[in-house]
Amino acid sequence: MEKKSRIFLIGAGDHAKVVLSALVTCGFECRGIYDDNPELWGQTLWCLPIYGPVSKMPDTAETMAVIAIGDNSVRRVICEKFKNVCWPVIVHPKSVVDSSVRIGEGTIVMAGCIIESDAAIGRHSIVNSGCYIGHDTKVGDYCHAAPRSAAGDNVTLADGVFLGIGSLVRPYAAIAENATVGAGSTVIKDIGPGGTWVGSPARRIPSPARMRYAGRASITGTELTGGCDDGQASSE
Ligand SMILES: CC(C)(COP(=O)(O)OP(=O)(O)OC[C@H]1O[C@@H](n2cnc3c(N)ncnc32)[C@H](O)[C@@H]1OP(=O)(O)O)[C@@H](O)C(=O)NCCC(=O)NCCS
Repeated sequence: MEKKSRIFLIGAGDHAKVVLSALVTCGFECRGIYDDNPELWGQTLWCLPIYGPVSKMPDTAETMAVIAIGDNSVRRVICEKFKNVCWPVIVHPKSVVDSSVRIGEGTIVMAGCIIESDAAIGRHSIVNSGCYIGHDTKVGDYCHAAPRSAAGDNVTLADGVFLGIGSLVRPYAAIAENATVGAGSTVIKDIGPGGTWVGSPARRIPSPARMRYAGRASITGTELTGGCDDGQASSE
């Protein structure tokens, strides 16, 4: 990876600080931040300018960017708006990723993760600080494994799955698309799409649930808003 490449950040919420820290550690130089919250425009985050709405970011092959937003559905909507942007893979150097692991564009692996042999991580996913991903496990696109979550070997996480902080997934379990696993919960069998599962063993909670993600970015008030209400909202 080219050192000191200049890169834009999308999202100026709390998650952006962790992503910025990883970028700097990897040798990138951040050019500035786009965020849809007008209250942030003209302000700075860690001395970096917050320019304006995400739609203003140049959609060219010369643009390199990272989406610093924990919400899977918002990341997907933003990514689909840009056809030409280059989305690098960011792997924090203080993580242990086996050389056989495949990682898709735009995915970020934070500090302290362990990803075992022949695992595969899709595009624009987040493997957050201290996660464990077992060997032969497949993580889809637009997933988020929150800090200290662990997926054993041969697990399948379909696109858009959210694993809450400290959650566990038993080896060989499969979690269908857009399902949410609550903080500290334990998944011991296959679970279907779109629902929210909590406890140990994890059970589905009946009411539609929105992910309470402390670090969600302030993507509001623009054409990108349309992506905020699907994904982790239950399909019940
Ligand atoms: C699972 C989650 C999304 C549910 O949020 P919600 O839909 O707002 O649900 P509520 O807080 O209204 O709780 C609904 C019920 O589920 C229970 N519940 C919620 N989260 C739970 C969890 N993680 N473990 C066990 N039970 C849980 C609540 O106690 C409540 O039970 P009750 O109806 O008997 O009182 C949320 O609790 C959660 O765990 N979010 C993950 C946050 C996280 O990891 N962020 C990452 C930061 S980097």
